[in-house]
Amino acid sequence: MEGVRSSSLLPGILRVDGIMKKVKNLNLAKQSKAPLFDTLLGHAKRDVISFHCPGHKNGRSIDKELKDYVGEKVFKFDVTVFDEVDSLHDPVGQIKKAQELMAEAYGVERSLFLVNGTSVGNMAMFLSACNPGDSIIVSRSSHKSIMAGIIMSGVWPIWVQPEIDQNLDLIFSMTYDQVKDALDKYPEAKAVFVTSPTYNGVVTELSKIADLCHRRGKILLVDEAHGAHLHFNDQLPESAVEAGAGLCVQSTHKILSAMSQGSALHFNSKLVDFNRVKKIVSMLQTTSPNYLTLASLDLARRQVVLQGKKIFDSVIDAAEMGRSYINKNIQNMKCFTRQEMNKSGFDLDVTKLTVNVTKTGLSGYEIESILAKEYNIQLDYADLFNLVAISGYGTIKADVEAFVKALESISKKYRGKQKNWILKIPSLATEMVMNPRDVFLSNSVTKVSLKNAVGHIAAQTLTPYPPGIPVVIPGERITQEICDYLIETASKDIRVSGQENDKLRMVKVFTNF
Ligand SMILES: Cc1ncc(COP(=O)(O)O)c(C=O)c1O
Repeated sequence: MEGVRSSSLLPGILRVDGIMKKVKNLNLAKQSKAPLFDTLLGHAKRDVISFHCPGHKNGRSIDKELKDYVGEKVFKFDVTVFDEVDSLHDPVGQIKKAQELMAEAYGVERSLFLVNGTSVGNMAMFLSACNPGDSIIVSRSSHKSIMAGIIMSGVWPIWVQPEIDQNLDLIFSMTYDQVKDALDKYPEAKAVFVTSPTYNGVVTELSKIADLCHRRGKILLVDEAHGAHLHFNDQLPESAVEAGAGLCVQSTHKILSAMSQGSALHFNSKLVDFNRVKKIVSMLQTTSPNYLTLASLDLARRQVVLQGKKIFDSVIDAAEMGRSYINKNIQNMKCFTRQEMNKSGFDLDVTKLTVNVTKTGLSGYEIESILAKEYNIQLDYADLFNLVAISGYGTIKADVEAFVKALESISKKYRGKQKNWILKIPSLATEMVMNPRDVFLSNSVTKVSLKNAVGHIAAQTLTPYPPGIPVVIPGERITQEICDYLIETASKDIRVSGQENDKLRMVKVFTNF
């Protein structure tokens, strides 16, 4: 059974009734070490004469304006590969030790540090689990790096259309029933790719999906970009590593305290060869990793193991305070709750605040901009309907208070004209005629006007925002419904990622079919 190890092999994890439970039996003395950071610190303090890359030589030639603001010391961590600091591609020393501590902390067999975010990890999971021509079940609401993974690996995607809640203007991740239906219909699928939590913190039934995959001998891959913290606080939903994912990737930089681009790929599979994963990750990453990012991964792991419970208890309290303040005091805004998600069969990472603003008559984009310009508050994401405030390891109660007070002030000060926006997507149950990679590599491509595109095979991806779901994918037959949707989208001036001109009029299609 994939992802299942006996508790004696997995410190930190105990299997109870077939489900991995969070158990805090980690060796804390061991986990309080940060071998890579300590080594880099020791190196930085010795002021070694550098005849290695990078050219700024321990920060000496860094632009003065930058150095005056951030200080010089930080650049002493910006070194290159040599024995003392170890190599990311062939670790035998401090990076190896740091990765082992990470694996132990998450209760997985192996962990690999990533310096190009979860984007590169997603691509690596596709390439590791599948061979060209294999098929894989994947939600259409996945991150854009998934399309890169599909094209690179040459797989046939079996798309699952995500469910939409039009009351909350929200798109869900794949459900257990959807995965089961897809596996019943396409038993040849080699793997299942799930995103959980979503950008909005919605967590799907991963344990059930994992058990199903294990029973059917399928590899479960999870994009857990937003879930590196879940494992360390019992108030938070179950994480992918506990649920039994074979491979999972987390953006350690998104919620925990790693520097941007710092992510980790966790391996816990009997169906995939770890050496293959390692080789693929190495093929996709730079040979000049930023050691500050690597050190920050080592420290973020130590920090969350030692203090994650306490810190996230207070982040959860602050976020829940904000949620209930918005729901009680700001009449035209709404922030969905964990109970509401539970009723829909999902769980919620309550640290995330998704604020629906449709009743204000203003779009999420407009409020995001007001927050930035007038209240000095920058959000991670907004769309027509919602604002998403992402809390993290460093969030304090005062930040959430400032946010909700600003929203209250905006709701009193501004009133837009009610619009009849509806979050919808066309039926994506169309034919996948060609493999996306074959279309991508083909020169037999031309452009046709949107209204003449019906029946053609798409040769590009088109993703309207919102909802941020690709409605056209290379290799898929373009239907009348998809065309009509795109024509309507273009008439409303909705931004479509992938369009090459200001106005969406043409679509690239394959000619030789
Ligand atoms: C669900 C999801 N997956 C993957 C990514 C990519 O992560 P990274 O920025 O670490 O490359 C993101 C980024 O926002 C994301 O939201």
